[in-house]
Amino acid sequence: MKSPQSIIEKAKKYIVTLDGIPYKIKDIAGVRFVTQFEEDIFLLWEMITRRSGMRVVEVKDYFSNPKRSGYKSFHVIIEYDVNTVDGLSMVLCEIQLRTLAMDFWASIEHSLNYKYRNEVPPQIRSRL
Ligand code: GTP
Ligand code: MG
Repeated sequence: MKSPQSIIEKAKKYIVTLDGIPYKIKDIAGVRFVTQFEEDIFLLWEMITRRSGMRVVEVKDYFSNPKRSGYKSFHVIIEYDVNTVDGLSMVLCEIQLRTLAMDFWASIEHSLNYKYRNEVPPQIRSRL
């Protein structure tokens, strides 16, 4: 779950109004599956599409098309049904599917960006 503080920060960054948050911020809730093998990603993807109570609204395939950074992962945005006292509501949620190796890479890259304040020296980036 994103903290209220970080939801507000993200809304400010992307110039999203308070009313727009539930529609425009698609990762207030998130789940990450870390698998052993690449094939497992697609088994999980199939299971996600078959489940009731949620619908896939967006797919970002950084598995087949890695980001410029080198980041690989398969992202799925779903609309998840939530029953409230006022009736049925829905929440957008980000599911990340990646292997252990991709996860390991992403956490190192994240730490390097933190360490070098988003300016990772080219020779370090190329070693990564
Ligand atoms: P955010 O504003 O960060 O939510 O990005 P976005 O709306 O453009 O979505 P995207 O699918 O690109 O990224 C969602 C999440 O994937 C991020 O919050 C990170 O957890 C992860 N991610 C995306 N790109 C990178 C990357 O280059 N490196 C690493 N380490 N993680 C990434
Ligand atoms: Mg995010």
